[in-house]
Amino acid sequence: MLEILLTVTFGIASLLLLLLLFSRRRREGEPPLIKGWIPFLGKALEFRNDSYQFLQQLQKCHGDVFTVLIAGKYMTFVMNPLLYPAVIKQGKQLDFHEFSDAAASTTFGYPAVRTGRFPGLSDKIQRSFLLLQGFALNSLTLTMMGNLQLVLQQDFLSSHEVGSVCDWREEGLYEFCERVMFEATFLTLYGRPTHTNSDVHAHFHRERWIDALRDNFRKFDAVFPLLIARIPIGLLGRTKSIREQLIRFFHPQRMAEWTSPSEFIQARKDIFQQYDTLKDLDKAAHHFGILWASVGNTIPACFWCLYHLLSSPQAFSVVREEIMGLFGEKEPESVLSRDILTREQLEKLIYLESAINESLRLSSISMNIRVVQEDFCLRLNPHSSVCVRKGDIVALYPQSTHLDPDIYPNPQQYQFDRFVDNGKVKTEFYKGNQKVRYYHMPFGSGATMCPGRFFAINELKQFLCITLLMCDMQLNAGQQHATMDKSRAGLGIMPPANLISFRYRVKKNSI
Ligand code: HEM
Repeated sequence: MLEILLTVTFGIASLLLLLLLFSRRRREGEPPLIKGWIPFLGKALEFRNDSYQFLQQLQKCHGDVFTVLIAGKYMTFVMNPLLYPAVIKQGKQLDFHEFSDAAASTTFGYPAVRTGRFPGLSDKIQRSFLLLQGFALNSLTLTMMGNLQLVLQQDFLSSHEVGSVCDWREEGLYEFCERVMFEATFLTLYGRPTHTNSDVHAHFHRERWIDALRDNFRKFDAVFPLLIARIPIGLLGRTKSIREQLIRFFHPQRMAEWTSPSEFIQARKDIFQQYDTLKDLDKAAHHFGILWASVGNTIPACFWCLYHLLSSPQAFSVVREEIMGLFGEKEPESVLSRDILTREQLEKLIYLESAINESLRLSSISMNIRVVQEDFCLRLNPHSSVCVRKGDIVALYPQSTHLDPDIYPNPQQYQFDRFVDNGKVKTEFYKGNQKVRYYHMPFGSGATMCPGRFFAINELKQFLCITLLMCDMQLNAGQQHATMDKSRAGLGIMPPANLISFRYRVKKNSI
């Protein structure tokens, strides 16, 4: 027995020694290297526990740039926003698609796009993103406005079953945002499945297909961080079959029958049609991926925007006044229609936009990732550069900028008008006496920046305008403050960790 024990102990000790001897060492010109003592995992657990505190601590000890071993990957973090431009502009040696393409295809279940099987597909997909912006955004905005009102009206009418339409209803604030935004965004992008009916009164007589879709989506989204971390889907309980159901929902034969899809989705359907190498379910998986991109961050963003407004009477009243100002003498409730609040009008709402940007600043924990294509030295500024190795990752962690007290005094505090200066949108922020170019990055940066960002900001504005116009709303008294669920750190807007309930009722003339 003792012999076996000694052999095992000796075996483990030799393995650790070997790993130690052959593991990576810092070379001249490279940033400080932090590997931890657990082979392969490195500092993965500390990073996962509280990435912000962990990175802050490392920055204090090692300076603005350092490399950390996290789950087998050497990640070089650039923590000072004044150095970000060096990374963002460096296109050739720092690739931004390698990581996201691989992660997206395994997560959503379609074959990798950038291979010889699909020549030109990636570029065509990138070009289709232009249909979320510019002129195409006008019709998206119009359709979204109609759908938001439709979904809310359905919602109020369903409360009519149990009482008067104008009675108070109580619900989780997150659930409310999720219900409304999921359906309104789906209808706006994908159009209307044929078995549904746009008449609000038909609501009671039809199957709530959207509830089933949203339920599956929620289950999938709960394991999303594990899928992105490349945990095989087979190890994640029922996730595989849930993903299959979600993908099947977007089968091209079904989608062919949906009416009035957006230009964006129509263009993507046309692109996929050009590729015989894409199977029907591959096409469906691509459409499903866009569903996640379009609501995965927007729903928690809606939650934080509304939560902060309802928690801050001053913010609420300034923003409400600003919205009411668009209607002059008219009662806003009485003019509700698809055409109210055009894109130009929404652009004028600078306090509302500031309140939204402030909520995003506080709730966004994303990471901008680039993969190093060859060993080279990255010039950070005229005085310094760091050497990185092929296959390593260079990462920006914008939360450290969003919470930097030099840039944003009292950074943990919600200040709805932080992004307004003298009645104009504020775009100049400083660290010390240097202007910071990348001070607000919930949508990423440079070439990988979210292509849906203009649509997203518009949607958030529309959601807030319409709920403020149509409803009276109050947070329930005596609740704890909302905190963030940091288990999704690195992936975008954090959802709340605790249940926040509120009550709302429809205003008299709104339906
Ligand atoms: C508040 C809401 C949103 C936030 C915070 C957000 C944030 C982001 C971020 C951080 C990225 C990755 C950028 C990078 O890698 O540097 C991204 C990518 C993306 N987003 Fe958004 N997004 C939002 C809403 C939307 C909406 C409404 C759409 C509409 C379809 C959308 C479509 C996309 C797509 C397609 C990509 C991938 C782009 C690519 O592969 O090149 N997003 N988003």
